Amino acid sequence: MKLKNKVAIVTGAARGIGKAIALIFLREGGKLAIIDSDREKLEILRKESEKEKKEVMVIPCDITKSSEVNGMVDQVYKTLGRIDILVNNAGIIRRGTIETVREEDWDRVIEVNLKGTFNCCKAVAGIMKQQGYGKIVNVSSIAGKVGDITSAPGYGSSKAGIDALTKTLARQLAQYGINVNAVSPHAIETEMSAQWSEERRKEVIASIPLGRLGKPEDVAEAVLFLVSDEASFITGEILDVNGGALMD
Ligand SMILES: NC(=O)c1ccc[n+]([C@@H]2O[C@H](COP(=O)([O-])OP(=O)(O)OC[C@H]3O[C@@H](n4cnc5c(N)ncnc54)[C@H](O)[C@@H]3O)[C@@H](O)[C@H]2O)c1
Repeated sequence: MKLKNKVAIVTGAARGIGKAIALIFLREGGKLAIIDSDREKLEILRKESEKEKKEVMVIPCDITKSSEVNGMVDQVYKTLGRIDILVNNAGIIRRGTIETVREEDWDRVIEVNLKGTFNCCKAVAGIMKQQGYGKIVNVSSIAGKVGDITSAPGYGSSKAGIDALTKTLARQLAQYGINVNAVSPHAIETEMSAQWSEERRKEVIASIPLGRLGKPEDVAEAVLFLVSDEASFITGEILDVNGGALMD
């Protein structure tokens, strides 16, 4: 078990990639706080975990609100005694072009994806520093490296911001035993990518050397590696999980 007794916070874990990360962390013996703003889905998860007698905290929290994030981190720290791992997975996407996108969509995407990630990093940094130990993994996107023609401009911009934030925090926190990395997925089968037309789906698969879409578990296993002690000499890395669509 790679995460025996490690305390982990996973944001956006009510569904999709975040849920897969949470399940894989549990498999590896982690103690988990599942964070999401979707209260209905969280309630279903809470009932499931109670039925299966899994030890997880299920906490509703909008990561764009620093007061909620600070309260959530406080609650986890007081209950579980440490915070070893933070996975900033929560994110949203909007479609459109520079001409059609609305200003409020730009603002919301930057607010959730970039500021939300910043809020969570800021809330755990002091605790991890005191522990002399911490692993932060941010969930970015290929769109942050090469742009994207179908998502509205804020999405790739927020993810490029996450890549820069990851490297900045990796430099600032390395001296305290804290590793900060990111995964950069592409074309993972979740509700986010279910919005694609059949034509777009075929186009995307044709552009992936491994010839298939990714599964949430493909991303989750890469995150597990980055938070494990096997990756202790890796920091500031933006790890591609994209079937070979971009090799950089
Ligand atoms: N699916 C893909 O193909 C793909 C590709 C590259 C990157 N990503 C990234 O992976 C991450 C997860 O994507 P997914 O496909 O599982 O998405 P998803 O939409 O299925 O899940 C995202 C989760 O984040 C939660 N969330 C949204 N706003 C929030 C907020 N303000 N506070 C707390 N939680 C919030 C949602 O309720 C949801 O449960 C995102 O950051 C996304 O940008 C996804």
